[in-house]
Amino acid sequence: EEIEKSGYPHFMLKEIFEQPNSIADCLRGRLDVKNHSIQLGGLVDVMDKLIGAKRLIIAACGTSWHAGLVGEYLFEHLSKIPVEVEYASEFRYREPLINEDDVMLVISQSGETADTLAAVREAKQRGATVLGICNVVGSTIARETDAGVYTHAGPEIGVASTKAFTAQVSVLAMMAIMIGQKKNTIDPEYAERLIEELDRIPGKVKQIVEQSDSIKRMAELFTYAPNFLYLGRTYNFPVALEGALKLKEISYIHAEGYPAAEMKHGPIALIDAMMPVVVIAATDHTNDKMISNIEEVKARKGRIISITGKENEEVIDLSEFSCPIPETEDCLSPLLTVIPLQLLSYYIAVNRGCNVDQPRNLAKSVTVE
Ligand code: G6P
Repeated sequence: EEIEKSGYPHFMLKEIFEQPNSIADCLRGRLDVKNHSIQLGGLVDVMDKLIGAKRLIIAACGTSWHAGLVGEYLFEHLSKIPVEVEYASEFRYREPLINEDDVMLVISQSGETADTLAAVREAKQRGATVLGICNVVGSTIARETDAGVYTHAGPEIGVASTKAFTAQVSVLAMMAIMIGQKKNTIDPEYAERLIEELDRIPGKVKQIVEQSDSIKRMAELFTYAPNFLYLGRTYNFPVALEGALKLKEISYIHAEGYPAAEMKHGPIALIDAMMPVVVIAATDHTNDKMISNIEEVKARKGRIISITGKENEEVIDLSEFSCPIPETEDCLSPLLTVIPLQLLSYYIAVNRGCNVDQPRNLAKSVTVE
């Protein structure tokens, strides 16, 4: 096992640090930067279905569900397909309305999650085309779906998912851009910019993991906080959910992720000098709104930790701690903003003496109900 960890103290840290490579592996052979095109071999046979889809239903559980939420923003923005994101467990137990022109997309690292597999079977029975994004090659979901894309992130051992999430989001981004190009719903120059930027993402992720020491120092100060709040908007709202989930899973600290504007509808009542608030402020057109959210938190003495673009001085100045990330396109920012949140939860859990790779009560793959 020590050999498999390649010198890292935990699989989770190894997997966080692997992300420059795992994302590059996921993009390899698919992203053609020279010709500004994307090829996803596994989808060739269903391309007409995808182009003609009236609706895309994404179903998943846990971290994969968060990737699905990022997918919703991507597909609606770039491919102009209406999207619904479902918890697989809810999808299977209600009376889902599925039409022939609907495409179902399930996301699962393991390809074995019982609820996600049941959602696949339910949708197939109702006549939908079902696609999968899986990491484990040959897994049950990969076999039972009509077509799909592997994430190629390599084996993920840590129970808390890290590199599988960034690979899932990379696949979703490639799919959304590719469909957008084929449907002409995306400005060609913008598509070219996104393809070039996707190619630069592994290098930018590397820059972030190289700052891990400063995140480690920051984690020391917040190790004993009893609660955390995570706020994000648009593309980074799902990242707020994912950051909170990571902290809950491995450090057992109560944490909630919220769309920043919803703070006023409840969580603001909890904010006091004991409450760290992690603000993910990496989407340009909502920056002013995030700044006013930060001011509202500060007025109640909440402690601001921000994840924001290097150049976003206004947010950095308002924060007690800031983790600057390289500039990127808004719609690709979750691939960068999630990394400091993974590291923050990792270091806090280690400081609290938690079993990071095998947290209590959790399983890597939930194959029973
Ligand atoms: C479990 C794991 C999570 C994972 C979720 C969905 O809860 O602990 O890390 O996100 O299952 O798993 P899947 O393999 O379907 O992505």
